[in-house]
Amino acid sequence: MEQKLIRNFCIISHIDHGKSTLADRFLELTETIPKSKMEEQYLDRMSLEREHGITIKMHPCRMVYPFEEEEYILNLIDTPGHVDFSYEVSRALAAVEGAILLVDASKGIQAQTIANLELAKKEGLSIIPAINKIDLAHSQVEKNKRELANLLKIKEEDILKISAKDGTNVEELLKVVIEKVPPPKIPENQGTRALIFDSKYDSFQGVVAFVRVVEGEIKKRDEFILLQKKKEGEVKEIGYFVPDLSPKENLSTGMIGYVKTGMKNPEDVRIGDTIFIKEKKQKAEEKKVLPLAGYKEPETMIFSSIFPKEPTTFAEIKEAIEELHLSDPSFSFEEERKKMIGIGFRCGFLGILHFEIILERLKKDYKLNIVVVRPTVPFRIVLKNGEEENISSAEDFPEPSFIEKIEEPWVKLEIITPKDYFNDILQLFRPFKINFISSENFGEEKLKINCGMPFRKLIENFYDKLKSISQGFASMSFDFLCWKEAELLKMDILVLKEKEPSLSKIVEKSELEKEARETVEKIKKIFPSQLFSVPIQAAVGGKIIARETVKAKRKDVTASLYGGDVTRKKKLLKKQKKGKEKLALKAKISVPSEVVIKLLKE
Ligand code: GTP
Repeated sequence: MEQKLIRNFCIISHIDHGKSTLADRFLELTETIPKSKMEEQYLDRMSLEREHGITIKMHPCRMVYPFEEEEYILNLIDTPGHVDFSYEVSRALAAVEGAILLVDASKGIQAQTIANLELAKKEGLSIIPAINKIDLAHSQVEKNKRELANLLKIKEEDILKISAKDGTNVEELLKVVIEKVPPPKIPENQGTRALIFDSKYDSFQGVVAFVRVVEGEIKKRDEFILLQKKKEGEVKEIGYFVPDLSPKENLSTGMIGYVKTGMKNPEDVRIGDTIFIKEKKQKAEEKKVLPLAGYKEPETMIFSSIFPKEPTTFAEIKEAIEELHLSDPSFSFEEERKKMIGIGFRCGFLGILHFEIILERLKKDYKLNIVVVRPTVPFRIVLKNGEEENISSAEDFPEPSFIEKIEEPWVKLEIITPKDYFNDILQLFRPFKINFISSENFGEEKLKINCGMPFRKLIENFYDKLKSISQGFASMSFDFLCWKEAELLKMDILVLKEKEPSLSKIVEKSELEKEARETVEKIKKIFPSQLFSVPIQAAVGGKIIARETVKAKRKDVTASLYGGDVTRKKKLLKKQKKGKEKLALKAKISVPSEVVIKLLKE
């Protein structure tokens, strides 16, 4: 295989700007997928991706395209656009030499356009800009092209105008990829090495590593060593993504493909590790080969606990969580035991969507019955006795009388919005405790607003509120800013007069009453009604602050009675009331995880 005919590239953009649709056109053009089998967003194969209409995982695919009397191998990786999955994007970027940067002609440059562009620049990739959705009636192609040219400091002529939907200029774009993206570099002779940029678990064949061969040739039955984990194994199968796994004889320098490792313990094969092929029994240590750069695992910013509904399924949940962690190391977990719930897992996520997707995967892909705890940000607490604690669960929050000082994480927020929505967006500042820092003109009609806010408030559905107040035009990105002192306390929620640890929340002292009232009202709205009425109370340190009642589902016990037998009717209703009281006393309701999720969204 001649390396000069290989092009490895990604498609990056803000969410929904058309990456997967563009990938569809490439798959058609290169006849990778026969027309009869083609369906929209073909690479988004996970059922959750199809349900949500978003890309969650990166998707590699190998295509072959004839150009100027040569046959080019084009290895494409489609990436997600949502900020919660930017770790996926950064891993994909480390496996390629170029990136198509797509901008939706009706929305223009948005926050993740810039964030993903910065990631691609850091990797030193060739950037191929394109304005997409030019077929849309309300698109502003020329204006957005000027803005993109300004951002990239290039000429407007260097930006292609395309429609991923109807295929306009898509073939030209593919040709520009061949011309502008450099072929893989051929490094100095360090032995056969490949970077693991993703992986998945196959219950029969163990871990399948997605690799970018940096140097050499990997073949079936080669013996390898993982340089970080120091584990050894044998290549069971090797091949390409088309986009399903297609076995081949070998993978050589610069290629993207997969290696079936046969390893059964997901922990042994880490994303970012280096597969080193032991040649002629020469050990890696003797050659003193260093592992490839790998990836810095991102710090998880929100935490929740996941417990089995039936304790007997603990082992199944553990297995599922380990598997999910294998292909998504940004999701962290450790075992924990909680007094009122039992044994489960404390898990860390990059954001609320990340949390939701992991839950859905556990429920739908693994068919597990789980209980979850309302997610929270971490807190740093200094106790009166001088001890310091890092808390990442509302349940563990100490009583106010023990606390000397509390600090919470703040984020630096960058909002990009058309100027017309500035005043509407300002209305969100007070309820979300946002500190305005500065604003500057961005492009021709937009503003970039810099501000700071407690991360605790950001996860209260701020992004959706920002979207709806700006009719979808404002976008945001955020980054950790600093730790700041705050006056916070734990608000307990009681269901049927019993503390429900999955619903506790850390709130500001000054807002306790408002929070208590609003929370019980919200829970009342979303709690599934039972055969008896369910009191919902908010309390601090045993003192009830607010209360609502979820009314009982009423079964019409008198339905079978004709006419007006009033005494009998009354008697039956009385009997029903007694029955319900008994039921309520006996019941221990486990709060469905949907309630926890809906509570975050309301
Ligand atoms: P994420 O991976 O979730 O970030 O989304 P994406 O960037 O892959 O976007 P996707 O391809 O899923 O497209 C989002 C929406 O835009 C879909 O409804 C597409 O049909 C639509 N779309 C994509 N390209 C075009 C285009 O060129 N013209 C029009 N009119 N619609 C498009």
